[in-house]
Amino acid sequence: MANFKPYIHRGNIEGVYVKELIKGCTKRRNNDLRFAFLFCRVRNERGVMILCKEWRQIGVNIERKPGQNEKDRQLEQFRSIDEGKPMTTNEGLKLSEDEFSLKAGERGPTLIEDFHFREKITHFDHERIPERVVHARGYAAHGEFQVYESMKPYTKAKFLQNPAVKTPVFVRFSTVAGSRGSADTVRDVRGFAVKFYTEEGNYDLVGNNIPVFFIQDAIKFPDLVHSFKPEPHNEIPQAQTAHDTFWDFVVNNQESAHMVMWHMSDRAIPRSFRMMEGFGVHTFRFVNEEGKACFVKFHWKPKLGVHSLVWDEAQKIAGKDPDFHRRDLYEAIEMGNYPEWELGVQMIQEEDEFNFDFDILDPTKIWPEEEVPVKIIGKMTLNRNVDNVFAETEQVAFHPGNVVPGIDFTNDPLLQGRLFSYTDTQLIRLGGPNFHELPINRPVCPFHNNQRDGYGRQTINVGQVSYHRNSLANNTPSVSSAQEGGYAHYQEKVEGRKVRNRSKSFEDHFSQAILFWNSMGEPEKQHIIQAFSFELGKVKSKSIKQKAVDMFANVSTNLANAVANAIGVNPPENAEDPKLEKSSPALSMLNTVMLPDTRKVGVILGSQFNGPKVAAVVKGLQAAGVLPVIISDKAGDVKGTDGTIFEATETFLTSCSVLFDAIYAAGGQGSTPAFEKNAAQFIHEAFMHYKAIGATFDGVVFLEKANLLNQAGVVTGEDPRQFTEEFVKAIAADRHWDRRLI
Ligand code: HEM
Repeated sequence: MANFKPYIHRGNIEGVYVKELIKGCTKRRNNDLRFAFLFCRVRNERGVMILCKEWRQIGVNIERKPGQNEKDRQLEQFRSIDEGKPMTTNEGLKLSEDEFSLKAGERGPTLIEDFHFREKITHFDHERIPERVVHARGYAAHGEFQVYESMKPYTKAKFLQNPAVKTPVFVRFSTVAGSRGSADTVRDVRGFAVKFYTEEGNYDLVGNNIPVFFIQDAIKFPDLVHSFKPEPHNEIPQAQTAHDTFWDFVVNNQESAHMVMWHMSDRAIPRSFRMMEGFGVHTFRFVNEEGKACFVKFHWKPKLGVHSLVWDEAQKIAGKDPDFHRRDLYEAIEMGNYPEWELGVQMIQEEDEFNFDFDILDPTKIWPEEEVPVKIIGKMTLNRNVDNVFAETEQVAFHPGNVVPGIDFTNDPLLQGRLFSYTDTQLIRLGGPNFHELPINRPVCPFHNNQRDGYGRQTINVGQVSYHRNSLANNTPSVSSAQEGGYAHYQEKVEGRKVRNRSKSFEDHFSQAILFWNSMGEPEKQHIIQAFSFELGKVKSKSIKQKAVDMFANVSTNLANAVANAIGVNPPENAEDPKLEKSSPALSMLNTVMLPDTRKVGVILGSQFNGPKVAAVVKGLQAAGVLPVIISDKAGDVKGTDGTIFEATETFLTSCSVLFDAIYAAGGQGSTPAFEKNAAQFIHEAFMHYKAIGATFDGVVFLEKANLLNQAGVVTGEDPRQFTEEFVKAIAADRHWDRRLI
């Protein structure tokens, strides 16, 4: 679908004169060449300036260009353009009627002979498939990955050799606990699953946005998941860990301590999928041509930095726009603001395996970046939305066991269990053993073996032979040696007794939880205390609350005391603060990249605004990569003093302060008495959420009245250039934690 040249149309579009394309693309809607998605500044015949972000009929053909990459070209064979075509049954029979079933008389019963009715209803009856048992709610996009330099010294994986090669990828982001229709902004871990369609087969890096996990052994995964899913007796609460069973699990499985610290931190309420890190979590192996292996951990670092919501905001967005994260990703890609992540690897040589104060195979441990640096090795760009969410996002099947030569597993007991679980669950979710044939799951390289038949088989395997070894087909398909590209498992020496045990080296559950706490800045610590207080405040069992406070006293007595105080239980018995001073600055989001790019600013505008100056500010914001959205008390044209007109695409009713990164009170008068009250509410809420607030001209009055002048991150000014510069800086700074809340 996106196989179209970015299209810049200057001229009349349905009576609207397109003056200038601000950024991004126009493209067809639902394969209809007459529609294009515009994100542009346009001027219509009346000279009205409009910030346009919608489908417009363009009445011209856009030239189709060949698929962007191999995966795109492969998918093209399966796309169907239905618009403009005669309607048929699935058997290809043209239909003459689709509104009335076949009846015996106009008021008579429907006849079973009506094959069209039967086919249509039957298909509809079977439209749903089971949602994923975890990570049910997700959203995905296509893109490409390119390595910066050859990784030959470490791995023979072909897609990591040549900087000129672009490997197609498909990436699905998800929440873990909620069902498919739950809200995006809940407190949860986010899945970050990447499928690389390499020339050697599919490689799946099925990670999360948090680098550790709750448990150390896969056998506990069903228990963990049962504890955080809605409680079985009343199916409450949806997509939340703030309930008794989750915290009961935590206090009785103390290996979860480190992960719970991350889960209570702002990492669990990301601002955007585009502003999240990703982690492979487990320790994997790189293996090079010579067969030499090293341990490796994978990281995705977002170019826009790592940013989060605040809890009050996250909860409100869940109601105002439950699709907040998927909308953000979809729109960014549609606008041409392609999200990018750099791939980083931490590597430890085999001989150094035991040189750390943690077990490098323990999935509840990070390798602190200060001890094992992250080497940045490539970049991933997401540049195309899916054509069909069910066919692609829902039917994609990731599996940590999908590897290519040069990448291998370790004995991490969580990883080992995952290697079983994914295919097993997909067999039922996707209805049989042939889901690898679904277009989204197909590798871009050929595949041949003796597997046959099963539900939904599409491949027509030609020939007599479907077994190995054979002589009738000259013993083909044949296996390949490692030199010929055949996958050969790394020959790790293993010996031991059969035991059901935890390794002693996995027993330290608190050192890295403390490391995480020590690495947080003051606002981050406060948020963690508030998150614990919220979550445990929702727990009914006093004994679980008390146990949780006692457990986290092993991390910090300050934390435990503050939480105990908030939730009404006793302070921890152990009043001594743990003695560990180590910290890892890389863990704090306060040290992340700060950029204004793609930040959304709500521009509150009334009529008679200062036309030329506000237009200059809006233009300046756009030039800095910020996305202004005009909000007024009614949708449509808002006219400035000099006749400049902006189109308000949002109103106080359709929008809300929490949906923006910053608010700009640009001035003007509202058309209703509620204008002032609504504007004040937007500004107040943005203020309480520590966001940048700008005001110019008569917009400054709002800030004066609310007593918000001279506060951190509040910018006012009369000179458009100077104001824009300062406001953009305040937007880039993200949150202004040193603000005095009122
Ligand atoms: C023993 C531990 C685990 C088990 C048994 C397990 C099992 C599962 C299962 C059954 C699914 C649903 C798959 C589907 O229906 O297609 C799933 C999805 C997923 N899991 Fe795990 N998981 C485990 C741990 C983890 C960990 C540690 C991570 C992160 C490193 C992770 C990341 C994901 C992601 C990202 C998805 C969603 C994939 C998608 O977008 O389709 N899981 N997991």
